[in-house]
Amino acid sequence: MSTHSVSVHPDGRTFLVPDNANLREACLREGVRIYYGLGRLANCGGRGRCGTCVVRIQDGQSNLAVPTPRERDRLASFGPGMRLSCQTHIRGPLTFDPRG
Ligand code: FES
Repeated sequence: MSTHSVSVHPDGRTFLVPDNANLREACLREGVRIYYGLGRLANCGGRGRCGTCVVRIQDGQSNLAVPTPRERDRLASFGPGMRLSCQTHIRGPLTFDPRG
């Protein structure tokens, strides 16, 4: 099984994930904080409904699975380069900012 390097911007932390890993699950496992503000207390638990797990992709956008229709709808209120970590599957090297 192949693995991919995931870098957290700006703190420079890096960890490895298996191919097609879910970004939210990987962050939770690695102790990378992805929820801020009210999202820490109230989120949808990874079902793509709340938008609180949004992250900014710094590098490697093309190494991610394309957004599902649900994610595209949810991302409409965010700027370019954003993804819902709970709906994002990693298929190559990635650098992202978990603060969105
Ligand atoms: S955790 Fe709610 S959209 Fe990702």
